[in-house]
Amino acid sequence: MTDLHSHLLPGIDDGAKTLADAVAMLKMQQADGVRTVCVTPHFYPGLETPDEFLARRAAALEQLLPAAAPYGIRLVEGAEAAISETLPELGRLDELCLAGSRTLLVELPVAWMPPWAESVLDELLAGGIRPLLAHVERYSYFRSDFSRLERLVRLGCYAHVTASNVVRADEVGKASRQMLRRGLAQALGSDAHSPSRRPPRMGEAARRLGARRMGQIEHTAAALLGPHTAPPKAPAHGLLAGFGW
Ligand SMILES: [Fe+2]
Repeated sequence: MTDLHSHLLPGIDDGAKTLADAVAMLKMQQADGVRTVCVTPHFYPGLETPDEFLARRAAALEQLLPAAAPYGIRLVEGAEAAISETLPELGRLDELCLAGSRTLLVELPVAWMPPWAESVLDELLAGGIRPLLAHVERYSYFRSDFSRLERLVRLGCYAHVTASNVVRADEVGKASRQMLRRGLAQALGSDAHSPSRRPPRMGEAARRLGARRMGQIEHTAAALLGPHTAPPKAPAHGLLAGFGW
């Protein structure tokens, strides 16, 4: 299993505070059958440059790698880039992408979708970067109007839902599962921040979703982590009903 979104790198953002926290989460991932974990610390374009971010990330990874070695989990570098009007023009975007791929994990504001968001995503796509929208079930503007998410997926974006939300019984949980079923979200990430407060919970999500859907999700994860430069084609028709999810 692949986790496309996590805050396991110690001491770099609001995720793992210590190396012990990070290792505790790796143990949980291993027990759940996760074999690839993307480490995606928050990157805020207005607050630091890619150079500064990448230096911090490299230092945190250097700390984690030896401790992670016994768990047999492949760690893949990435970033959770907050959307901003300047994002497409920033240098070193390739290095912010999930390592070796052209997939960039992009976070939208929780409370509203900026009017310029679509053109920024379009610009990224035009530059050969495929945005993977983070935890789309968390945005009330998508939950209340799936067509807004559909529009971005048709544009060429991908979207993931959060493992810990997939298992919830409330409106957020239902929206997560519907988004997957309708092809509006195609991938899964834990967005794990800590072993206690926000643990990974990938195994629970996998059991809830079932083997067939997890097979599709894994297939998508492999494609998203692949090296292809051209964005894969978004479903051409029947997005809401016929994507086969
Ligand atoms: Fe995150």
